[in-house]
Amino acid sequence: MKEKTIKYPGKTIDVYFTVDRCTHVAECVRGAPEVFDPARHPWIMADAAEPDTVAEVVLRCPTGALHFKRKDGKPEETVPNKNRAIICRDGPIYIQADFEIQNFDETFILKDTRIALCRCGKSEIMPLCDDSHSRTSFSDRTPLLKRKIQNNLNREKLIITLKKDGPFDLQGPVEITNPEGELFFKGNRILLCRCGRSQNMPFCDGSHVKTGFKIKKTIQLIHKKNDKTTY
Ligand code: SF4
Ligand code: FES
Repeated sequence: MKEKTIKYPGKTIDVYFTVDRCTHVAECVRGAPEVFDPARHPWIMADAAEPDTVAEVVLRCPTGALHFKRKDGKPEETVPNKNRAIICRDGPIYIQADFEIQNFDETFILKDTRIALCRCGKSEIMPLCDDSHSRTSFSDRTPLLKRKIQNNLNREKLIITLKKDGPFDLQGPVEITNPEGELFFKGNRILLCRCGRSQNMPFCDGSHVKTGFKIKKTIQLIHKKNDKTTY
């Protein structure tokens, strides 16, 4: 399966929508309903609000389904000044970072600044969240654990490796928080569960091995390593 990105052109800003990334959390609809209206065709009208408003709302999209390109010389999206992995209770991991994802054999998958990663182990489009956690009533079962907090991290890219039938291996400076900003980990390397079976969420505790977890398939993406972003 390949990601399908649609361009919605405007006079001063173009909006890009990557269909499979959208998990319908509706940040865009709440933020600028005149621009993002799922009941209308086309559902995105890039000129229906000030370009600064469109850009600001696009950046709120937690899955990276939305991106923009300015045509008025104003700044494009920049990488965040720190890398964050946000653990949603009973839901996905939102990455807000300067990141690259690679498969276990180091083949490049994508780079971006925002994405929602599957944590329940049930997504049909691994490693992306496809809202399977809602359909399967995924639960963390226990409160999220805390690990070490290390200060003075460098500002570097975050590399996320998809371990074969195992966790996300995050290498590079990263902070792990809940959506309220409570800090669970700050450091340069951590394994995060993606089988949905860890007893020490959000961290991998080896349960994927004990339970014989198998990834059905990993989405095949078409991005090139030297693309500026994924669209
Ligand atoms: S904010 Fe992003 S993920 Fe949420 S509905 Fe809009 S496009 Fe989809
Ligand atoms: S990936 Fe879930 S416990 Fe290791």
